[in-house]
Amino acid sequence: MSIIFSYLPCLAVLTSPAGGYEWVVLVEETVVEMSRKVRVLCWVMTHPGNHERKAKHVRDTWGKRCDVLLFMSSKEDPSLPAVALKVEEGRKHLSKKSHEAFRYIYEHHLDDADWFLKADDDTYVVVENLRYMLHDRNHSEAVFFGCRFKGFMSGGSGYVLSREAVKIFVEKALSNPKRCHLRGAAEDMSMWECLHSVGVKPGDSRDELGRWRFLPFTPENHLNPGFFVGKYRWLWKYTFYPYKEGPESCSDTAISFHYVPPNLMHALEYFIYRLHPFGVQHQPSISAVVVKPLS
Ligand SMILES: *[C@@H]1O[C@H](CO)[C@@H](O)[C@H](O)[C@H]1NC(C)=O
Repeated sequence: MSIIFSYLPCLAVLTSPAGGYEWVVLVEETVVEMSRKVRVLCWVMTHPGNHERKAKHVRDTWGKRCDVLLFMSSKEDPSLPAVALKVEEGRKHLSKKSHEAFRYIYEHHLDDADWFLKADDDTYVVVENLRYMLHDRNHSEAVFFGCRFKGFMSGGSGYVLSREAVKIFVEKALSNPKRCHLRGAAEDMSMWECLHSVGVKPGDSRDELGRWRFLPFTPENHLNPGFFVGKYRWLWKYTFYPYKEGPESCSDTAISFHYVPPNLMHALEYFIYRLHPFGVQHQPSISAVVVKPLS
């Protein structure tokens, strides 16, 4: 085995010619630098009745960390800012609203970001971890990530499309209603079907230990074993990847949670960004190892 230190100060390449593989070891500083360059537009599904009640709490908490933040509504509100899409309000029009939101972004913001996140006004997103997951993915490939269920990405925990995915969704899927149906309230199923119809691939958003990063409930629901019985038993029917209840359910680099009311958004801001145990420091670490065949 030989160790070659590259010109990047924090990148070490270890090669193992006998095995025919090389390991590229990136220490955290490099990855942090790379993730900062990932540009994310976030759009949040809302409606006029929720501008004050919910949307403004998204703006004042996690939303401010997106490169571009837009609220999709049917009434304009420059203070959020909210866009007035020409759609009817009500649950049964959610797919239409999602389609029109992406059309609006395609027409006005396609060059402003590399990745395009859809979230609800009760989704909480750790934007740095979203950038981290995306830092080594290619936004020119037609791909999307989220909480993968069987046949859709669960809408409430949000999902993120590459720029290429947004482009072909609007240019090709939306103009083909035979293969891209509106499915009323099931906007996540409609998006999956439409994206699938134009070859956009679902990506794997789990961390290196297989733990979920897009989570369909709140942290306390996931971390407390026994939540997914009774009323919430349906989760097991939909899971595409194995799910472990309890402490191992959530990734250390979790990206999103759903059903988060405004008060919990503010609490999460405090827990994630301010509270820390005195005297305990976060240790920079080797945070990414890429193994690839020797060329
Ligand atoms: C990203 O994907 C595009 C389209 O498939 C490809 O042309 C390009 O070479 C890829 N870039 C990298 C850095 O892999």
